[in-house]
Amino acid sequence: MIDRANAGEITDEQARQLVEKAREARQKAYVPYSHFPVGAAVLTGSGRVFTGCNVENAAYGPTICAERTAVVKAVSEGEREIVAIAVVADTEGPCSPCGICRQVISEFGKEIRVVMANLAGAIRVKTIGELLPSTFDADQLYSSGERG
Ligand code: THU
Repeated sequence: MIDRANAGEITDEQARQLVEKAREARQKAYVPYSHFPVGAAVLTGSGRVFTGCNVENAAYGPTICAERTAVVKAVSEGEREIVAIAVVADTEGPCSPCGICRQVISEFGKEIRVVMANLAGAIRVKTIGELLPSTFDADQLYSSGERG
């Protein structure tokens, strides 16, 4: 059974399918440094799925996580309405997105379902708003009195 705090906009079946796509994408991870492959899959409002994997770099800092790869692929194809994103890795419990990825996902909606999974079949669903409360967002940016 899927562990979900809130009743989601996606069904358990959709969540499982998204995790399956993320697992496939994980096979493409470029991880010569960490040897920690991660896969992600974004479900958009139009029903399309965009996948991603982590792509590492010898300078470490330029490494791009699987979730950001998938989000950027979707948005760069004109799909800004994100319903859900799955992330999967070989973790003990469901794989939890890093802080930078939370901020990037949050840009496209606080109600986005984040489907966290591992290879053993554990799945947990939370909204990005739950995972990253009090985010810095456009409202804050435009509420600034500073206009350099
Ligand atoms: N990684 C992701 O792809 N997503 C996350 O949310 C956590 C971390 C990647 C970055 C790096 O390639 C490897 O996992 C180890 O940190």
